[in-house]
Amino acid sequence: MIQLFYGSDTNKTHRVVQEVMLPLFEEHGVSIRDKVVSELKPEDWTENEVFIVGVPTWYYGELQSDWQAYLEELKGVDFTGKTIAIFGLGDQWGYDEWFIDGVGILAEVLIQNGAKMIAPWPTEGYDYTASKALNSEGDFYGLALDEDNQYELTDERCKKWIEMVVNELHLTEKSLSNSKKAEAAE
Ligand SMILES: Cc1cc2nc3c(=O)[nH]c(=O)nc-3n(C[C@H](O)[C@H](O)[C@H](O)COP(=O)(O)O)c2cc1C
Repeated sequence: MIQLFYGSDTNKTHRVVQEVMLPLFEEHGVSIRDKVVSELKPEDWTENEVFIVGVPTWYYGELQSDWQAYLEELKGVDFTGKTIAIFGLGDQWGYDEWFIDGVGILAEVLIQNGAKMIAPWPTEGYDYTASKALNSEGDFYGLALDEDNQYELTDERCKKWIEMVVNELHLTEKSLSNSKKAEAAE
């Protein structure tokens, strides 16, 4: 079971989650429990190991309103041993100096608090000036979607990214069970 937590002010993230991502995960046989950030409870982070986090960016590089309201609480969560894949929605032409900054703001808190981030996403195919969402390799921390300018690419991008997520999770599971086997053999 994977938890998918997201916020959405004008329903674009909501639509992508409900109409594109959930059916794709279902095709892979992965069950997802989705929840909006405004309804998060502290135990939502403790009961599971794997999370997907979705955040649109608003108002010149700010978090979507529910994530913004939740940020201080998030800073107090321990993510040691947790695996997280992040995705963000933004507008690369209208807000080219802050493209999906919210992804970077959240990813930094998650990493700082011990999370292992998976499924980074290449920056090819986007046209923006600056973004806080870049990791040390120069990739986005996770999937970047632009429903304002490149909505026709959303389905294909989600398909590829979800494949990445599923593959990386299988690898993680395999390496976990291998290390357990190694422990048992000792
Ligand atoms: C007033 C306003 C400010 C925005 N600021 C940014 C921004 O700084 N960076 C960015 O990448 N996108 C920005 N966007 C684009 C939104 O992130 C984009 O429309 C997104 O799909 C909205 O998702 P939601 O409906 O799930 O909230 C902005 C949009 C509006 C209307």
